[in-house]
Amino acid sequence: LTKRAEELKAIIAEAPGGQMRSTKWFNRKGNNAMNSLYLERFLNYGLTPEELQSNKPIIGIAQSGSDIAPCNRHHLEIAKRVREGIRSAGGIPMEFPTHPIQESVRRPTATLDRNLSYLTLVELLYAYPFDGVVMLTGCDKTTPACLMAAATINIPAICLNVGPMLNGYMQDELMGSGTALWKARELHAAGKIDDTGFTEMVTSGTPSVGHCNTMGTASTMNALAEALGMALPGSAGIPAAYRERMQCGYKTGQQIVEMVHADRKPSDILTREAFENAIVANTAIGGSSNAPIHLNAIAKHVGVELNNDDWDRIGFHIPLLVNVMPAGEMLMEEYHRAGGLPAVMAELYDKGKLHTDALTCNGKTVGENVKGQNSWDRRTIRSYDQPLKKDAGFLHLSGTLFESAIMKTSVIDAVFRKQFLEDPNDPNAFEAKAVVFDGPEDYHMRLETADIDSKTILIMRGAGPLGYPGAAEVVNMHAPGRLLKQGVQSLPCIGDGRQSGTSGSPSILNASPEAAAGGNLAVVKDGDKVRVDLNKRRVDLLVSPEEIKARREALEASGGYPVPPSHTPWQEIFRRETGQLADGMVLKRAVKYQRVAQK
Ligand code: FES
Ligand code: MG
Repeated sequence: LTKRAEELKAIIAEAPGGQMRSTKWFNRKGNNAMNSLYLERFLNYGLTPEELQSNKPIIGIAQSGSDIAPCNRHHLEIAKRVREGIRSAGGIPMEFPTHPIQESVRRPTATLDRNLSYLTLVELLYAYPFDGVVMLTGCDKTTPACLMAAATINIPAICLNVGPMLNGYMQDELMGSGTALWKARELHAAGKIDDTGFTEMVTSGTPSVGHCNTMGTASTMNALAEALGMALPGSAGIPAAYRERMQCGYKTGQQIVEMVHADRKPSDILTREAFENAIVANTAIGGSSNAPIHLNAIAKHVGVELNNDDWDRIGFHIPLLVNVMPAGEMLMEEYHRAGGLPAVMAELYDKGKLHTDALTCNGKTVGENVKGQNSWDRRTIRSYDQPLKKDAGFLHLSGTLFESAIMKTSVIDAVFRKQFLEDPNDPNAFEAKAVVFDGPEDYHMRLETADIDSKTILIMRGAGPLGYPGAAEVVNMHAPGRLLKQGVQSLPCIGDGRQSGTSGSPSILNASPEAAAGGNLAVVKDGDKVRVDLNKRRVDLLVSPEEIKARREALEASGGYPVPPSHTPWQEIFRRETGQLADGMVLKRAVKYQRVAQK
């Protein structure tokens, strides 16, 4: 640690003393009146004019923790070490709040706020005198919101994760946050636990400060921030409560000052190669099915082409190496101790699966960061040749029901394969009878009474960006209690919404266009046959084109697929401006604003 601090000091001392962006606020030549106006209010808490006019980098700390964002709340403490790191390297920290996003609490759904948090962070980074920014990330949507904003603004930026919670336990059984909820839901539906047991199981997964301790969307998105090169190597997986987390805050503070002096910007790091590295890493860690949505969005904002075909083509044939829930058995503490992302990337490096020259935030390449970091713990992080599962990436599916949807194959278990996929004629195809739900409320109301058997495919619609503004995480539907009691653990699902990253259901997700945007999911009926062919990447409604056309006409005549009214101004604005999940659900009009700090 001390060695790195000395190195950074030397780098900074040698940096060319160019003008800072903040000079425009505090140090304009011949405009003392303007400088004074901008200066004076920062002095009221003790900063001095000399500091602000010394051409030292002013570093924003984008604080995402608060009492209403419990996953990220520990950042209120970590930020103190970030400040010290910034000061020690000769920068001036200025901490400010970002729009909070708590995944598990925000109604109707937290994704609605990803773009709002993005928008507000863009405004703050553009409008205030920042030369660089440390983005305090954690809970699911906070990380992509920050990366999208950094991509748009393009000032030197680095992510610092809050870190996952410590392991949860019930007696000696590991309990992962989120994953415990899905398990409890099934046990409760099958009558095996009561209400008290339900609460006990769910809360056992959350023993400390930090974000979800499973490889859910939070662990995934922070791992991918690191894989992209936007966070220090090895930083994403450090548990929130470990001392290393605070030390990492300090190092990140030092690093951002060096990045400003080196003028190392998001556009230097977030290249097509970096995104391809992240896709490969996502398969190896068993990452969340929300990752394509968020990475496609970040790419759009930085001007890199990326789509769901890339995810299948580049990511599908990569094996699953990380044995962490929901695709595996362990939690993030084991993962971190086993070496975390650098250990995973070292396996990919050895097999030539990475663009090793991609630049990262610390000025080194990905290759330099991860080479030789292979894990000592082969139970948690497998070698490439002895993976948990081969071909473990996402499939990109299309057909008569939708143009684009993805399926996370790393969570298709043996039971599901037997129940649906083991047809000697075509072991990767199956036909099933549809039962259709219009939103999660309809599902909860009708699950136990609908005509569902062990060969049913459950369809959830009205859960996309327009239908359930923001797109709800509701496609991971479990079977009715009577089937669970018979041992039918999972039914395949299709939906225009999303699935929690902590869930292991065999689902076809993020279907675009959604029912509310004119997709054919709007015309499926209970009892229709659906054919899923994973080899051909097809999902088809086995209903004649004439019948589909007639149903579409009838739907249009009745006013289209019903969308509930917006309840807040943002819901309305969001619906007006948003794209579909396949395109990253970005605000369509925002994408043309790129590298705005340079303007
Ligand atoms: Fe915040 Fe999982 S709910 S990280
Ligand atoms: Mg989630």
